[in-house]
Amino acid sequence: MEITRVDVTTKGGTYPIVLGQGVRDKIASFLEECLGQRPLAIVTDRHLAKLWLEPLYARLIKDSPKKPKLIVVPAGERAKTLDVYASVAQKLLYFGADRGWALVAFGGGVVGDLAGFVAATYQRGVPFVMVPTTLLAGVDASIGGKVAIDLKQAKNALGAFWQPSGVLIDTEYLSTLPKREYVAGLAEVLKYGMIQDEPFFEFIVSNAQALLRMDPGAMAKGIQASILHKKAIVEQDEREANLRAVLNFGHTFGHAFEAHAHYKTFLHGEAVGLGMLVEAAVAYRMGSTTKDVYARVEESLKALGLPTKPPSIHPDRMKRLLSLDKKKQGAKVRFVLLDRIGSVRIEPVAIEELVDLWKTLRAEGLP
Ligand code: GLY
Repeated sequence: MEITRVDVTTKGGTYPIVLGQGVRDKIASFLEECLGQRPLAIVTDRHLAKLWLEPLYARLIKDSPKKPKLIVVPAGERAKTLDVYASVAQKLLYFGADRGWALVAFGGGVVGDLAGFVAATYQRGVPFVMVPTTLLAGVDASIGGKVAIDLKQAKNALGAFWQPSGVLIDTEYLSTLPKREYVAGLAEVLKYGMIQDEPFFEFIVSNAQALLRMDPGAMAKGIQASILHKKAIVEQDEREANLRAVLNFGHTFGHAFEAHAHYKTFLHGEAVGLGMLVEAAVAYRMGSTTKDVYARVEESLKALGLPTKPPSIHPDRMKRLLSLDKKKQGAKVRFVLLDRIGSVRIEPVAIEELVDLWKTLRAEGLP
């Protein structure tokens, strides 16, 4: 088993990301390294609890004398609500958890966001470790300390920057991920290539088939490179003063597509893939990139089997959806403009202008 270790350094300190096939067997020593002897509560969802929790828990109690407490939440985005957030915090109170405790977020992006937000706020903050079990969480959500829950009106409306004390990524967890979710996760992997690494983008396109069949070598390279990109970005700009916003490429329109369908039609990665396509088309219309670059974006999405047909949203509705964007500053959005594959810049663009461009794309079709 080859294990990769990457350290991430932010203002609050340095934490390790450990990646490898079967690395979950080292969970007890990893938690001890990151959290010392703190009492633990594991937060997971019902789906994961059935699939993977038992062996992990057995391994933990075999290798360490303490029994962690378990908090199992519903599976899916509905776990990121105020109610579930309150119920997790109340369970911690019930267990007698104080500031000396720590949480382990065991699951996908939803569990990581929820448990991370509880960790950021419970008794003004306790440490936590992420054990992501989806590709999306492994390459994006678990790194960089963005944690949040949703309000009915807006996703991630309440959140914090709260860095984990460690991240343990076992690629074997991906074996039980539904294929569609895995492919959606590849959209975020592709995003790193598009925004800052053309050779990596080429690697993904030429190894699309290997990635799709979860070839261990291709997958390890894809995940490792993604982690290194995300690390480099959050180390320079933890609080998204500027640079970190490049990670939002594809998310301005992507979030609109997700919200339009009430988060039911597209998985997050699928919406981001469509968002990258539309934003490449917008960049072409704005004269920032060429038709050839747009075509390469489209081709890469097709190679991974990601959707390439955006929903037809009425411009008035699109205006309302874009106005909900967290990247909005007044009447403008901090838009990530593609120059070429591997290079983007952040430009304030008026929502009106984006809506006009959307109107044209909707009427005339993508380039
Ligand atoms: N997922 C975007 C970020 O972490 O900034």
